[in-house]
Amino acid sequence: MPKHIILDTDPGIDDSLAILLALASPELALDGISTIHGNVSTAQTTTNALSILELANASHVPVYKGCDLPLVKESLLSPETHGDTGLGYAKLSAPQAQAQAQHACDFLIEKIMSSPDEITLVAIGPLTNVALAIRKEPHIIQKVKEVLIMGGAIRHQGNTTPLAEFNTYVDPHAAHIVFHSGMPIILTPLDVTYQCIFLKEDLDRLLKIDSPITKFISDATRFYMEFHDEYQKIDGCVINDPMTLALTFMPEICDYEELYVDVDISTGVGLGNTFADFYNYDKKAPNMKVALGVRPRMFMELFLERMEKLAKSIS
Ligand code: BDR
Ligand code: CA
Repeated sequence: MPKHIILDTDPGIDDSLAILLALASPELALDGISTIHGNVSTAQTTTNALSILELANASHVPVYKGCDLPLVKESLLSPETHGDTGLGYAKLSAPQAQAQAQHACDFLIEKIMSSPDEITLVAIGPLTNVALAIRKEPHIIQKVKEVLIMGGAIRHQGNTTPLAEFNTYVDPHAAHIVFHSGMPIILTPLDVTYQCIFLKEDLDRLLKIDSPITKFISDATRFYMEFHDEYQKIDGCVINDPMTLALTFMPEICDYEELYVDVDISTGVGLGNTFADFYNYDKKAPNMKVALGVRPRMFMELFLERMEKLAKSIS
């Protein structure tokens, strides 16, 4: 039986790779995509989600448009990382399909409440939709099977400020609500994603297959690699979001610690910083499992194999 997942996402170059990995993985049934502001506006992330589904012949997957602004802070988008459209140099056709009329938060609530202990929520953008859904219907906390979150930097430096990772910096108040909700959370912070670099050699391997999928991956990641080179002196690019998605069916890619993790919502230099109480100073029970060790090539081989298979099926 495939695992039923919902992707809450802001595509976004690595988000789009997570959508493709979900579609290419028989272990998963993608029940829907909820979109969120983040890398680009929600109007654009919604268009991108629909276009990526069409590229992969998966227009049957419903897309629900979510919140366009963080709960408290001003909006922060990331065109320097993902390009003005959010997909780097890739140019996808405008989607034929439209988003569903239902708001993303209501979709999350309806789906989780109607399928108790069956839905795995994979949140790979700022957590605004998830936080609002919790506030509107707190019973989803007990009904959701698990929540995988790409966000935070525990021992690692930030990628948006010296101390904060992008998703937790963009909406730290939403992250605060979700982290302290009691949901069963598995966190994938930069500590593990920054060890999984998609290299030019990996791209060259995919490009041996002539397909709209490999062309898209190439056009999108070329921009992302230029960003990583210019801003972080990294050769290749960090594909955070598909790594998080992969843990839904291949958890052995990472090693985990159960920890009490918090996020800074004060207004100082640490805003959006995530920190774990490793020595249990505060005597609080762990509120999540945190991925802190990783087998990078195990993930990358899985990702490449799945993309090759998907590319071969779409020419
Ligand atoms: C996260 O922020 C975005 O740039 C990526 O899509 C990823 O979800 C990494 O910090
Ligand atoms: Ca993302």
